[in-house]
Amino acid sequence: MTEKNLISLLTKLERTQDLSDEEFASLLEADSSAFCAELALRARNTRERYYGKDVYIRGLIEFTNYCRNNCYYCGIRRGNERAQRYRLTYEEILACCKAGYQLGFRTFVLQGGEDSYFTDERLAGLIRAIKKSHPDCAVTLSVGERERDSYEKLFEAGADRWLLRHETADKAHYESLHPAEMSWEHRLKCLRDLKSIGYQVGCGMMVGSPGHTTAHLVKDLRLLQELQPEMVGIGPFIPQQDTPFADQPAGTAELTLRLLSIIRLLLPQVLLPATTALGTIDPQGREKGLLAGANVLMPNLSPVSVRKKYALYDNKICTGEEAAECIRCLSGRVASTGFHIVKGRGDHPGFKRKEGR
Ligand code: 5AD
Ligand code: FES
Repeated sequence: MTEKNLISLLTKLERTQDLSDEEFASLLEADSSAFCAELALRARNTRERYYGKDVYIRGLIEFTNYCRNNCYYCGIRRGNERAQRYRLTYEEILACCKAGYQLGFRTFVLQGGEDSYFTDERLAGLIRAIKKSHPDCAVTLSVGERERDSYEKLFEAGADRWLLRHETADKAHYESLHPAEMSWEHRLKCLRDLKSIGYQVGCGMMVGSPGHTTAHLVKDLRLLQELQPEMVGIGPFIPQQDTPFADQPAGTAELTLRLLSIIRLLLPQVLLPATTALGTIDPQGREKGLLAGANVLMPNLSPVSVRKKYALYDNKICTGEEAAECIRCLSGRVASTGFHIVKGRGDHPGFKRKEGR
């Protein structure tokens, strides 16, 4: 396809938030740096239309690396005997929130493996305690697949948002990344349940995981179109040395950036983080992500003593720095892009809070 035709596809995507499968594939595969620059520019303009120069921050608390799952790509899979397991105490988690609050965070993301210690009751108690100390903050959970009644209880307890990546929208590809005990259907059911309960929901894929093709990516884009998530988290696959995928090639920053821009045009108001994985495969990855349409950063608030243990993939950045150092470093990085970090919950513009929440 000529450059001119590719650029006219961008105009069509901006206007209709839709393209045919073949057209999406052309955007994903186009081999032209001028086109990629135009794509990023349009995504940035769309992001600025809704968010101006603002960048939202989320304080990530990786509170447990125990996990009952055994995903082939992930460093905290239960089969990884070399993982040093840890679980933060209630007090430690609240201390992370307190320190984060003082640094300006108004969203806390509790992320962990699927750890059976954290029953609904324990998680609900934690959410209530955070909300009590910080009523002006949003609480996001990222603890995987649960049943609908559990999602309901945690919503009742005050959780506002839920992150659950779909990883890939192709069932056969999903099955090649996960053992048979996990199901693509259940993952999608969880996302639909979360949405219907009233959470602001984030899904997303791992870019360039083993066997990930353009056709799969087109399905990923279709799924985003169908689910209309408030947030989309994407990052490149990065091998972890103690997993079955240790020798597989990593995904690329280029394709991740291209997808960030396409997603921005597809879901113009979506909350889109420039992820740590993107910053890990490219030292300027997060800045490039912001310049390609991303508008969220998720620095780590976990105690430095556990950071290296949450090793989903190798060479993860920011594992030696205190939260305050990361914020200072990030502020400089954000300033270099012409954007600035803002304080606030940073809800999705289309999201209406229920009475009393
Ligand atoms: N490389 C990149 N991302 C990974 N994740 C897990 N393992 C890896 C890896 N090796 C991502 C998955 C998961 C999220 C918490 O981290 O997408 O949903
Ligand atoms: Fe963590 Fe730069 S953002 S050290």
